[in-house]
Amino acid sequence: MKKILITGGAGFIGSHVVRLFVNKYPNYQIYNLDKLTYAGNLFNLKDIEHKDNYHFIKADIVDGEAMQHLFEEHNFDSVIHLAAESHVDRSISNPMEFVMTNVIGTVNLLNAARQQWKNDFEGKRFYHISTDEVYGSLGETGFFYEDTAYDPHSPYSASKASSDHFVRAYHDTFNVPVVISNCSNNYGPNQFPEKLIPLFINNIRHNKPLPVYGKGENVRDWLYVVDHARAIDVIFHRGGDGETYNIGGHNEWTNIALIKVMCSIMDEKLGRTEGTSEQLITYVKDRAGHDLRYAIDSGKLQKELDWVPSLQFEEGIRLTIDWYLSNQQWLDEVTSGNYLKYYEHQYESR
Ligand code: NAD
Ligand code: DAU
Repeated sequence: MKKILITGGAGFIGSHVVRLFVNKYPNYQIYNLDKLTYAGNLFNLKDIEHKDNYHFIKADIVDGEAMQHLFEEHNFDSVIHLAAESHVDRSISNPMEFVMTNVIGTVNLLNAARQQWKNDFEGKRFYHISTDEVYGSLGETGFFYEDTAYDPHSPYSASKASSDHFVRAYHDTFNVPVVISNCSNNYGPNQFPEKLIPLFINNIRHNKPLPVYGKGENVRDWLYVVDHARAIDVIFHRGGDGETYNIGGHNEWTNIALIKVMCSIMDEKLGRTEGTSEQLITYVKDRAGHDLRYAIDSGKLQKELDWVPSLQFEEGIRLTIDWYLSNQQWLDEVTSGNYLKYYEHQYESR
C-alpha cells in the first residue's frame, strides 16, 4: 500500500499520470492536489473520479503551512510533483507567478516532505517532473544529455531550473530521496489550447489565423503524453536515488513542418480541399528569447529502465486531432472566460 501525492493532477500531463496510477495500481491511494488554475480541469478525470483509490485535494503549493498540514494529516510516502505554471508566453508577461509556484511551491513541498519523513526515508520518494527547457537551446546538431549544463532563457525555464537545483540540494544536503526527469514537448488529449498543437487545431477548425512565431524554423522534439506518463511510472518505481533521466521522442520537427502536417490532416478530417488550412498560416513577431532547438537523448532511460515510446508521431498526431475534434465541448469550456482575455492580450499586438 502506497500513499502518493500527485501535484498538478488536474492539468494536462498530471491527469494522464493520475489516470495511469489509479487504474494500474488499485492498491495505491492516489491524492491529486491541485489549485485548479486556468490550466487545471477536473473534467479531465471524470472517468476515474469515483474510484476508491482516488482522492482530490484543492490546495495551493505556495501555501507552505497548508502543505505541512496535509503531510501531517495524510502521511504521504511519495510525491510526484507536476504542479507548475507551464506556459512560456505567460512567463514572459508575468514572471512572478512562475517564481511563486515553480520555485517557492517546490521548496514548500520539499520542506513538508522532509519534516514529515524525519530522516526515515525507507520507502519514501520525491519525484520532481521537469523539462528539457532547462538545458537552453541547441544549434542545428547535438542532443541534451543528463549532464548538459543548465542554460535557461525564459522566466519559465529559469524557474524550472531553479526548482531542479533545490530538489538536488535537498537530496545532497538533507538526504531526501529524490529523482528528477526532464522531458521534451508533450502533445495529446487534454492539453490547454494555449500551447501550439491544441491552439492550432482549434484555430484551424474555426478558420482563425495560425500565428507562427518568427520564421517557424524553431525545432521541438514531440512526445505523446501517454508515453511520458509511462516513463514517469517506470522512473517512479525503478529510477535510481538522486538520478536524473531525460525523456524524449527522438521526434524533431520544425514548427512550420509540423503545422503543415496538421493543416493537411485537418483538411482531410474536415472535408476541406487540400491546402485550405495552410492559407491560415500567419507569420507574427517572434517570442522573446525563443530557443531555437530542443532535442533529447533518452538513451539512459532506454538502456537502464527499458522505456521506449509506444507511438509513432503519425499515429499520435492523428489520435490527438481526432480527440480535439470529438471533444468540442471540452475545448469550448476551456476557451471561454479568462482564456479569451488571455488570447486577445497575447495576440493583439502582433
Ligand atoms: P499544465 O499547465 O497543463 O498543468 C499544471 C497544473 O498545475 C494545473 O492543473 C494547475 O491547476 C496546477 N497548478 C498550477 N499552479 C499551482 C499551485 N500553485 N498549486 C497547486 N496546483 C497548481 O501543465 P503540464 O503541461 O501538464 O505540465 C506539468 C508538468 O510537466 C510541469 O511541471 C511542466 O513544467 C512539466 N513539463 C511539461 C511539458 C509539456 O510539454 N507540457 C514537458 C516537460 C515537462
Ligand atoms: O520542451 C518542453 C516544454 O514544452 C514544456 O516544458 C513547456 O511546459 C511546454 O509549454 C512546451 O514549451 P514550448 O514553448 O516549446 O511549447 P509551445 O507549445 O508554447 O510552443 C511550441 C513551439 O511553437 C515554440 O517554438 C513556439 C511556437 N509557437 C507557439 C505558440 C503558442 C508559435 O509559433 N505560435 C504560437 O502561437
